[in-house]
Amino acid sequence: MRPLLFALVVCSVALFAQAPEGGRGRGPVKHKNLQVLPDDSTLIPNMRMAATGLGVMCDYCHEQDRSLDTKPTKVTARMMFSMVKDINSKFPDGKVHVTCYTCHRGMTEPLTAPPAAQ
Ligand code: HEC
Ligand code: HEC
Repeated sequence: MRPLLFALVVCSVALFAQAPEGGRGRGPVKHKNLQVLPDDSTLIPNMRMAATGLGVMCDYCHEQDRSLDTKPTKVTARMMFSMVKDINSKFPDGKVHVTCYTCHRGMTEPLTAPPAAQ
């Protein structure tokens, strides 16, 4: 019985350790690798704004552990978040005027020039 009990204890410890990382644990979630965005209730709305703006799912930028910076798209997106914040800060009324959708229009690569006339 003893080895089995030990295995059970190890398993439940691992489960508890996993919970906060997935964001499904109780209590406030502390994100590990935010360099541009605030760690508050605006995070998930910002993520949805990026996903719908580019017409992608979360895994376009993320591994299962969302704090990892392994995908180049995430690294580019961080720079884009910073750029969008900067642009919006230049409007005198303090409102959000520019989002990912403003340029991307549901595509990963926005058009830089109008399509050639037919
Ligand atoms: C276009 C790329 C992109 C998409 C799509 C995206 N994210 Fe993110 N996500 C980022 C970037 C960039 C950061 C880091 C921001 C920073 O450094 O401030 C981040 C950070 C996060 C974090 C914080 C991780 C940590 O612990 O540091 C979570 C949680 C997260 N995203 C969830 C999501 C979810 C859920 C979705 C889908 C609805 C999503 N993301 C879609 C780019 C993206
Ligand atoms: C001012 C216009 C503009 C805005 C706003 C903008 N982007 Fe971009 N984004 C671009 C352009 C232009 C490119 C293509 C760059 C190139 O040609 O290499 C790009 C490329 C990207 C890429 C790389 C796509 C690929 O195929 O590798 C990602 C990821 C991205 N943007 C994320 C975002 C996110 C997330 C936001 C909102 C926070 C955002 N962008 C807002 C103009 C913009």
